[in-house]
Amino acid sequence: MTQLTRRIGLSLGADICWPICYEALLKELDLALPIGEDTVTFEAERVSIEPFDLMRPCEYDVVIDRLTHWYHTSREWIKKSILTDDLYVFNNPWSLQSMEKQTTYCAMLRLGFPIPRTWLIPPKAYAESADLEPTLRRYAKLFDLGEIGDDIGYPLYMKPYDGGAWVGVTAIKDREALLKAYNESGVRVMHLQEGIVPFDGFVRCVGLGPQWRCVNYDPDAPLHDRYQMDVDFLSASEEQRLIDMTMVINAFFGWDFNSCESLLSKGEWHPIDFANACPDSQVTSLHFHFPWLIKANLRWSIYCAATKRRPNTNLNWREYFDIADQDIPFDEKLAAYVEISRKRFDVEDFEAFCAQHLGHLDEVAHHYFATEGVRNAIREKVEALYPKHEVEEFTELFWDRIQHWRDVESGALSKS
Ligand SMILES: Nc1ncnc2c1ncn2[C@@H]1O[C@H](COP(=O)(O)OP(=O)(O)O)[C@@H](O)[C@H]1O
Ligand SMILES: [Mg+2]
Repeated sequence: MTQLTRRIGLSLGADICWPICYEALLKELDLALPIGEDTVTFEAERVSIEPFDLMRPCEYDVVIDRLTHWYHTSREWIKKSILTDDLYVFNNPWSLQSMEKQTTYCAMLRLGFPIPRTWLIPPKAYAESADLEPTLRRYAKLFDLGEIGDDIGYPLYMKPYDGGAWVGVTAIKDREALLKAYNESGVRVMHLQEGIVPFDGFVRCVGLGPQWRCVNYDPDAPLHDRYQMDVDFLSASEEQRLIDMTMVINAFFGWDFNSCESLLSKGEWHPIDFANACPDSQVTSLHFHFPWLIKANLRWSIYCAATKRRPNTNLNWREYFDIADQDIPFDEKLAAYVEISRKRFDVEDFEAFCAQHLGHLDEVAHHYFATEGVRNAIREKVEALYPKHEVEEFTELFWDRIQHWRDVESGALSKS
């Protein structure tokens, strides 16, 4: 029997709270798993930023990445490590780099998802470049924005085709507002999208590997109240629908960690924003749901490290398109997409692994989330975001919500 250590790298930016809790819980778990002939233990380490030789071997088995969507030295190190050492990373950096909101809308439209009607329009302004004037003079077709607006109908949303974090998003109520918003939109390429207004429900479904959590979301609430704490707000079939759609999106793009926003109208859930491959992980927004995220992250990263999960070398969309092109109802297509996606996430193998090796995680986490270490992690994050006079109040608020999660969970644990 050989003793092996699997190393999990945390590639971090401004993250404070979740890595503290992730590392502490991994230690508490104190795993020594019998895998085949070996005993496997786990270590987490924060990845440093430094020059690297392209031939330097990668010292990690898995990397959880929170940085590379904007920090490109780390992104290139990760890409190199996948190519040369089969490093497993959440998320696939090439997919993250090239799939904007626009690509995700087009792909899921092809699969038949009920995405609201969307147009892409050329930008209002341009950065100067040598070829700009002849290109636009020759090929830019004059268009009537008002007509496009009327075709989509009001209210509609104008938002960047590659958007995130609500930047540059405008709700538009009529033609006049549309012209004004476009005139002020600058160099960004924009979508115009049919507004699902009013909506009867707003859900963020977070996926981490083959684990899902649907959160009731209030976009009009202050940041700390947007993620609602109710747990039974969806029927079983609605929840399954949202999970299925998120699972297919994540498997299709090779994203292990992503969230999908959907709005309910006339009995149908419409995904509107699902290119979020570096989702919010902070206790200051997730609070009640934060322990779920930490546990899900641990389960999937431990599984990937223990089994030496290999990165996919292609996304093979044809398998999905072959189903999309059949003349069958969307529900049947979705079921077939789910089947492919479950295989891609190795759902059954993962669940068997968790049952065999991580059965004590819920209990250990339940105790851990009542410790001063957690309270201090919350405080550190709150200190980074809030003015001094609010630190105590908000630290207590998020702490109380995590304690509330413990109460709700202990009910669930004692029932099971
Ligand atoms: N089609 C839509 N119908 C209704 N509300 C929308 C629509 N598109 C965007 N919104 C609102 O605007 C917010 C930001 O838009 P979103 O597409 O999520 O952009 P981002 O990627 O910046 O989060 C959404 O959370 C939602 O509240
Ligand atoms: Mg969004």
